[in-house]
Amino acid sequence: MGITIGCVGCGNMGSAILLGLKERLNGQGHVFCGCNRSREKLLPLQERGVELLDDALSLAQRCDVIVLAVKPYQAEAVLESMLPALASGKIVISVAAGLSLACLRTAVQGCCPVVRCMPNTPALVGQGIFAFCFEDSLLRHEDKSLVLGIFSALGLCLELEESSFAAFSALIGAGPAYVFAMMQGLVQAGVSLGFSWKESRRMVTALFAGSAQMAGLSAAPLMQLRDEVCSPGGLTIAGVNHLDRKGLTGILVDAVLAAAVRGREMES
Ligand SMILES: NC(=O)c1ccc[n+]([C@@H]2O[C@H](COP(=O)([O-])OP(=O)(O)OC[C@H]3O[C@@H](n4cnc5c(N)ncnc54)[C@H](OP(=O)(O)O)[C@@H]3O)[C@@H](O)[C@H]2O)c1
Repeated sequence: MGITIGCVGCGNMGSAILLGLKERLNGQGHVFCGCNRSREKLLPLQERGVELLDDALSLAQRCDVIVLAVKPYQAEAVLESMLPALASGKIVISVAAGLSLACLRTAVQGCCPVVRCMPNTPALVGQGIFAFCFEDSLLRHEDKSLVLGIFSALGLCLELEESSFAAFSALIGAGPAYVFAMMQGLVQAGVSLGFSWKESRRMVTALFAGSAQMAGLSAAPLMQLRDEVCSPGGLTIAGVNHLDRKGLTGILVDAVLAAAVRGREMES
């Protein structure tokens, strides 16, 4: 049965979620709505068939599922403005980084269940990873299924305890930055060896996509996949030896641990 799904705050993440869901859930009878403080960001959404609403309160009145995608510091005031429209039967899903379920629950005053969600940026291309915290006692089993059913259209969905959100954010939320940094290094290496920037980037992008797909399809340990590329006395083992001498694995572990420490400091 079709439901009405809306997004308050149609900036980078809100628009990506709304347009991604509209595109991928097309034909299931859902209606998609958006509202944003500045109107110009709504025009591309309108062109794609998203219904526009004037403000957060009107959107909350119209929608069954309300995605809150304003900046974390704006979230509580926006929830307060929606209070007259929040009622059981509706679900609020907040993607605001670092904003705890306790804060969200206080803001909605028990009027409806709240879900805390943390996406990462590949959600912008329908390949995101979404962590969901379903610890609000007002949430029914069918609400959880509904949320997972909707968001699985945009990538991998995981249910996590809220206590794991800082770890998830440090590893997966921040993860695209680590991956892009590694890609940048390899692209630069390609240019150093005489490829154009464009060629090098194209090849490195395909390298990451292909390797990720191999890793996803294989049950073999990653070290085994790595070692299988290294012929005895060959060029790959020479490169891999250098990575080991420089401690790439330890650098990555330390980067994620540093991000987790900062994430815990930022939780509110
Ligand atoms: N981008 C990411 O990679 C990412 C990843 C994980 C989580 N998140 C979370 O996603 C949320 C949005 O981030 P973002 O990067 O998409 O930020 P953004 O591009 O600044 O989008 C926020 C939008 O909210 C709008 N807004 C502010 N107050 C509003 C109100 N009262 N009613 C309606 N709209 C309002 C803003 O409108 P204006 O155009 O007027 O400013 C803006 O377009 C944040 O809480 C962030 O923590 C983002």
